[in-house]
Amino acid sequence: MVKQRADLTFKYNLKRGRHGWLRLTPAYSIKVVQQILENHPHITYVLDPFSGTGTTGVVCAENNINCDLVDINPFLVWFARVKVANYQNEHLQNAQEGVHSICEYVANVTEMSDLWVPSIHNINRWWSEDRLIVLAKIYHALNRQFPTPSPAKDLLNVAFCNLVINWSNAAFNHQSLSFKDNSNQQLTLFDEEQQILRQFSSIAQRIIAAARTPLKGQVKVIQVDSRKIPFPATGTYDCVITSPPYPNRMSYIRELRPYMYWLGYLKSGREAGELDWQAIGGTWGIATSKLKTWQPNEQRISFPGFDEIIGEISQRSLTLANYVHRYFIDILTHIKSVYAVLSPGAEVFYIVGNSRFYNTLVPVEQIYANLLETCGFVDVDVRILRKRNSKKELLEFMVSAKKPES
Ligand SMILES: C[S@@+](CC[C@H](N)C(=O)[O-])C[C@H]1O[C@@H](n2cnc3c(N)ncnc32)[C@H](O)[C@@H]1O
Repeated sequence: MVKQRADLTFKYNLKRGRHGWLRLTPAYSIKVVQQILENHPHITYVLDPFSGTGTTGVVCAENNINCDLVDINPFLVWFARVKVANYQNEHLQNAQEGVHSICEYVANVTEMSDLWVPSIHNINRWWSEDRLIVLAKIYHALNRQFPTPSPAKDLLNVAFCNLVINWSNAAFNHQSLSFKDNSNQQLTLFDEEQQILRQFSSIAQRIIAAARTPLKGQVKVIQVDSRKIPFPATGTYDCVITSPPYPNRMSYIRELRPYMYWLGYLKSGREAGELDWQAIGGTWGIATSKLKTWQPNEQRISFPGFDEIIGEISQRSLTLANYVHRYFIDILTHIKSVYAVLSPGAEVFYIVGNSRFYNTLVPVEQIYANLLETCGFVDVDVRILRKRNSKKELLEFMVSAKKPES
């Protein structure tokens, strides 16, 4: 029987040093990457073209394997860089002293006028007015303490991201987030400020402690589109380990919004939609309206039955049919691009989930297998990893393949 296997999801990472620095629901488990590396001891240079929070990079670096990470989202690129960096004692000391000064400043300065808050739509749905003031004070104090970018500031910004989500009304009870009503649970402003500051300090301590462990392998994080992967400066990759977005309408921007607005990566809803449109599988805001008029380019998906799948979905929704169609055209473009930067004999491992639209099951894993073959890969294999939720047909798979030796 196929099980849900929480140990193969982001949940497994939460208490494991750097891996637990920030929750991203679609992040995969470090176990997935570890097992691939263990079973393929010859691997020397890994590419993750959809790197998200950088799980692949950290595991590779822990195993003294070099790795390049690629993501299109500027916040995730920043975050992965912070996660894979090596920190000197001086950086950690600065971070340590910084937390202390920030907490002292916020606790002692009563009057702060013109506090900046992000321009996120309907902000009080995220944070009550009082909480927002405390968070804005901490953010102000953090930037006052560290006016310019630095490794210590990066670590404290990660702690701050945890804080904004912990004290928000967001509830992660679905594949993405919703809002809970906390209006009856407010403490007095003073008590709450104390609690928030204590939590900021303890999260920062946890992050600083994990940053002490050095990483051995070299990891580069590049902000590019994985449909146009650049050649690495040295050599070619002998392995791809990745989990691309699934065609399930999950929006990364949607889940990452609070961090992206606070840290200045987003300034408006329109910008959020534009970013989602550039990402594979994005459907947030303006991305949805653009899908309505989307037309396929000259590339064809050769998977038998693909046109019927699209036809069936379009009977219920043309937008969703376009969504699925565009997704696979993008993945095809990506696979062609990845093939070019691999050495002969390189192996690729894609962790993907299937999806359902109305009554139509999209066999995502089989379509990936077909696209890999079409692009010249051999030894294509599909394995079930786990069940994704109580609906028994929604599963996660590992699709692997090899670039021919010559
Ligand atoms: C399933 S997540 C990866 C999660 C990652 N394995 C982890 O453990 O955090 C997919 C990632 O693909 C990125 N992405 C989407 N479209 C992209 C594109 N065209 N080029 C590069 N990255 C893209 C998203 O920003 C997201 O971070």
